[in-house]
Amino acid sequence: MQYGYFDDATQEYVIFRPDTPASWVNYLGTDQYCAIVSNNASGYGFHKSPKSGRMLRFRFNSVPTDRPGRYFYIKDRDDGDVWSVTWQPVAKPFSVRGKSVDGKAAGPQLAEYECRHAPGTSRFICRYKSIEAEARAFVPDGENAEVWSVTLRNQGKQEKTLDLFGYVEWCFWHIQQDAMNFQYILYTCRMGEVDGIIDYSLRLWPFEEPRAFFASTGKVESFDTDREVFLGNYRHEGQPVAVENGRCSNSLAVGGTPCGALHHVVKLAPGETKTITFIAGVGDARTEGQRLRSYYQSTDAVERELSKVKQYWQSRLSALSVSTPDPAVNSMGNVWNQVQCQTTFNWSRSASFNEAGGRDGLGFRDSCQDVLGVLHSIPELVRPRLVELLRAEHSFGAAMHHVQPLSWTQGQHNVTPPHFSDDHLWLLIAIPAYLRETGDYAFLDQRVEYADVGSGTVYEHLKMALEFSWNNRGPHGLCLGLAADWNDCLNLKGRGETIFSTFLFLRAINEFLELCDTLQRGDSDVAHFQAYKAELLDKIQEHGWDGQWFVRGYVDSGKKIGSAESHGSTIFLNAQSWAVLGEAAEPERLVAAMDAVHKHLATEHGAVLNAPSYIDHDAEVGAITTFPGGLKENGGIFCHANTWPVVAEAMLGRADEAFKLYRAFLPSAKNESADVYSMEPYAYAQFITGKDHPYKFGRARNSWLTGTATWAFVALSQYILGVRPDYNGLIVDPQVPSTWSEYQVTRRFRGATYRIEVVGSGKITQVLVDGEPLPVPSGGKKLHLPIAAPGSAVQVRILRGQTSR
Ligand code: GLC
Repeated sequence: MQYGYFDDATQEYVIFRPDTPASWVNYLGTDQYCAIVSNNASGYGFHKSPKSGRMLRFRFNSVPTDRPGRYFYIKDRDDGDVWSVTWQPVAKPFSVRGKSVDGKAAGPQLAEYECRHAPGTSRFICRYKSIEAEARAFVPDGENAEVWSVTLRNQGKQEKTLDLFGYVEWCFWHIQQDAMNFQYILYTCRMGEVDGIIDYSLRLWPFEEPRAFFASTGKVESFDTDREVFLGNYRHEGQPVAVENGRCSNSLAVGGTPCGALHHVVKLAPGETKTITFIAGVGDARTEGQRLRSYYQSTDAVERELSKVKQYWQSRLSALSVSTPDPAVNSMGNVWNQVQCQTTFNWSRSASFNEAGGRDGLGFRDSCQDVLGVLHSIPELVRPRLVELLRAEHSFGAAMHHVQPLSWTQGQHNVTPPHFSDDHLWLLIAIPAYLRETGDYAFLDQRVEYADVGSGTVYEHLKMALEFSWNNRGPHGLCLGLAADWNDCLNLKGRGETIFSTFLFLRAINEFLELCDTLQRGDSDVAHFQAYKAELLDKIQEHGWDGQWFVRGYVDSGKKIGSAESHGSTIFLNAQSWAVLGEAAEPERLVAAMDAVHKHLATEHGAVLNAPSYIDHDAEVGAITTFPGGLKENGGIFCHANTWPVVAEAMLGRADEAFKLYRAFLPSAKNESADVYSMEPYAYAQFITGKDHPYKFGRARNSWLTGTATWAFVALSQYILGVRPDYNGLIVDPQVPSTWSEYQVTRRFRGATYRIEVVGSGKITQVLVDGEPLPVPSGGKKLHLPIAAPGSAVQVRILRGQTSR
């Protein structure tokens, strides 16, 4: 079943049926104030940190689901009827595109709802009886506030008098306290009202006084700041007693549960339209609140700020665009996959509808990977992020698993073993990618502090990361598993060894060697790390190959995991894909390993992470055995890990296989079966339930903040479409399905814009750059487009195979 569609022309995802199987959210704002907003306007808002800057409350994993939010209630004074601009919380019976949900023609008693999520803005429309109501939500550029501009239109023949109520629920700023410490938090607020603006004030030990406000344009008739008074006892957001009464009580909460409710009376002649703009923001009602309220008195201000938000996103999204024969690929590639990459770059894994925000800051490995998805559009913001991450690497090479740049200080206090076997190695994925994108080689010589003590150049940091892995190998010469590798739930402690980190280590060495080769530096380092590489390759062939695929590793007691002879799971996805990414064996083995992926792991919804799922608890294997089969890292279709086989197949030149794997878990390809998939068709989820689950196969969970976003974007743009930056030019290596006869990619690279048109299929036979032929590479070499002058536009036409065009 379908709940919405992609409107590519407006870059919106349009939800026409409000009872989506889960909350389908959007992120408004950038990296200062962020509002997470569902298709029913629920969600929370925070300033800088979702942990300690939580302004608007959301109740996670609660019933009714998806509460609270920013709600706009309308009461018709003629008949006392009450509804909300979004379907929830009042939940009127609704029709869908002119039909009732049972397919009959809809009557006027049914409301019709639409939500249009776009980059940085969400628009909600409700048509009910003769009133069309619309709420436009956004976070203005440079402001720590969310704006909800509500427009009411009278489309009937009679004059209407409507009560309009805007409502928000305040949070106690510190999320853990807010969720637990009720004996304290319920006795701290001192609510106020300043000239019709609600003032949210409280004093926190040790005497912080964070402030927020809720303001609205137009005359405030009445207000409430005490949730109990506004909603009424034993009621919920769907039936506030104040709305029913058509009036608030001007309650000023002193302690208790604070809210913000502002009541307006809107009189509308037939055909008339009126707008009231509500603003919830951080700061003092007397200053910030007044300032923003007066700014938004004119609806021009709303238009102006909305267009700034649009421009902001345009500047980011325009760095890369694609045009392919597959609309599901275009919608994701041009808009939503990129929006999600920017969002993970901003918020790492801290704030979503699943990540409740109790942990803010940056996941080390997560953020190292997140940079890959934004490098093409905001390289200037990537460099400082890389420095933040490098500062979380210890002088002995391991990394802090988690970094809090807002409160970071150097010192021994950062050294908290056990370390992870992969974290530090991701620096050797992120930094070479940054250098390839920008050519900013001087970065390698910048000195950066280590987390514990001392400092080193970026180049030295990279070497130390390699040394840490070398110094932490187990009895078979493979990397020790330590606390975990990329898979947080595979905990091969003690002498346990992981092939994933071993392959990643190999890839990291390859990256390092290529860097030295390109920049002609580090001669002695080259020989040193080549020796590491040779030894690793030997050990992998000896202890990593299982006959038909690669094993996943060894547990502390020496037993193999992910081997045909293993108890529980006999094959793991990452052990095959990363063999290719790490170039860990001869091509025949790599191909055999990928064949095993198709045979044993691939499904119509993507490849499961391991098969069969573990049934029994096994402490030596780790936390993955705590999940029922098919969920999360135990036989789930973990989407992040589904991107790597796509890259792997493209690297092996098996383009059709690559695309088949890519499309299997592509959210936009699930649009028509959204009732099964259940999460947003426009955002990747952390996992899709695997085939071993008894009844939820194909259902996605935990959307938005996942490394899937970045890697899916890399897999599509750099490996399938094949346009990827290199040290000495822009590679074009088409690995698209054989059924595609052409596609285009426009991409910014080192300040120039390349418009690349690829026609035909098969081997590249002709390359024209601005009409001039470029030699076609031979002998397995990749086509490199030369680096063009910054500011220039380069037209590239690539012909493949036998084509007459
Ligand atoms: C989550 C974590 C990530 C980890 C993955 C697999 O997505 O954020 O760090 O690699 O799960 O366990």
